[in-house]
Amino acid sequence: MRQAGRYLPEYRQLRSSSNGFLDMCLTPHKACEITLQPIKRFPDIDAAILFADILIIPYALGLNLEFIEKTGPVLSPVDLKSPPDFSPDSFLEKTQPIMETLKKVKSHLKGQTLIGFAGAPWTVAAYMLQGQGGKDMAAAKAKAYENPQGMATLLDTLTTATISYLLAQIKAGAEMIQLFESWAGVLPEPYFDKWCVDPTLKIIKEIKEKFPTIPIFIFPRGASQYYKKYFENDIKPDGISLDTNMAIDQALKDIPRDVILQGGMDPQLLKAGGTPMLIEAERILTKTKDRKYIFNLGHGMTPDIPIENVEKLIQFIKGWRP
Ligand code: CP3
Repeated sequence: MRQAGRYLPEYRQLRSSSNGFLDMCLTPHKACEITLQPIKRFPDIDAAILFADILIIPYALGLNLEFIEKTGPVLSPVDLKSPPDFSPDSFLEKTQPIMETLKKVKSHLKGQTLIGFAGAPWTVAAYMLQGQGGKDMAAAKAKAYENPQGMATLLDTLTTATISYLLAQIKAGAEMIQLFESWAGVLPEPYFDKWCVDPTLKIIKEIKEKFPTIPIFIFPRGASQYYKKYFENDIKPDGISLDTNMAIDQALKDIPRDVILQGGMDPQLLKAGGTPMLIEAERILTKTKDRKYIFNLGHGMTPDIPIENVEKLIQFIKGWRP
C-alpha cells in the first residue's frame, strides 16, 4: 500500500520544492529519499515500497501524463483503434530513472525488504482509456466492450511492457513484487477472467521463469469471490493483499494455505485511531494467526491520517503475541 505521501510533513516539504509529482518519480535522489522517509520515521517497518506510480507504464509508452492537484492523474485518453506500441528501447530509457531509484534505495536499506510494483494491465488500461480515475471506470468499460479486439491488443502491449518493467526492477534490486489491480471490482465474470486473471498469470509465469524465488503479490481490489480464480493453476501468485471489504474468514477458507495473506485493515481506522483501530488490528491478527500473514492496510494511506496513530499501530503490532 501507499506508505509515502501527504500524511508525512517531510514528504509535503519535498513535494512543495519539486516541479510536480512526475518530476519526483523521475528524479532518483528525490524518489529514493521519499521511499526511505517512512522507514526513517518508523524504524520497525519491515519493508520499503518503491516511490513511483502505476501510471509510469503509460508514460513510458509515450502517453502524456500529468498529476493535477485535487484531481489526481490525468492522461491523454487512448483510442482503441490506434493503441500505443511497445518499443523496448524507448520504454527502457524512460523507465531508467526508476531503476536508478531502486539501486540507490537498496544501498541504504538495513535489512528491510525492497518492494517493486506495477499496476496490473486492466487497471492501467482503464486509466489509459478513461484518461483519469472515476467512481466505477464506466467510460473505460464502454470503450473496451465496444472494441474487444483493440482491447486485447492494448492488454497484450501492457502485459509485455509490465513484464519488461518488472524484470528490470528485480535486476535493479526489488526483492518482492506487488501487482495492483485496483479496478478488479468493476468487471463481470468473463471479462474478469480475460482481462484481470489471464494477463496477471502471464506476467507471473514470465517472471517466475527468470526469477523463481522473487515473491509476487496481487492486490485485486473489490474482486469479491473471484479472487479464487488466481489460485486455480500451477502458476499462481505467492501472496494476496486483502482489501478492506474482504471477508477474512472466507479468504482463509478459499485461498490455498501455501499462499501468503497480507493487509486488510481499513486505512480510515488509522484516521480514527484509539480503541477502534486497535480492536480491528487485534481481530485481523487473531484470525490470521495460523497462516502466513503480513500486516498491512486494505488500501493506501490518506493525507488526513495522524502520524501518532501510525506509531501506535506499529507498536501494537510489534508487541502482539497470539
Ligand atoms: O508509498 C508509496 O509512495 C508507494 C508508491 C505508490 C504511489 N502510488 C505513489 C503516489 C504506489 C504503490 C501507488 C499505486 C497506485 N497509484 C495505485 C494502486 C493502488 C491504489 O491506490 O489502488 C493507483 C490506482 C495509482 C494511481 C494514482 N496515483 C492515483 C489515483 C493518485 C491520486 C490519488 C490521491 O489520493 O489523490 C495517485 C497519486 C499518488 N501516487 C500519490 C502518491 C504518494 C499522491 C501524490 C501527491 O499528491 O503528492
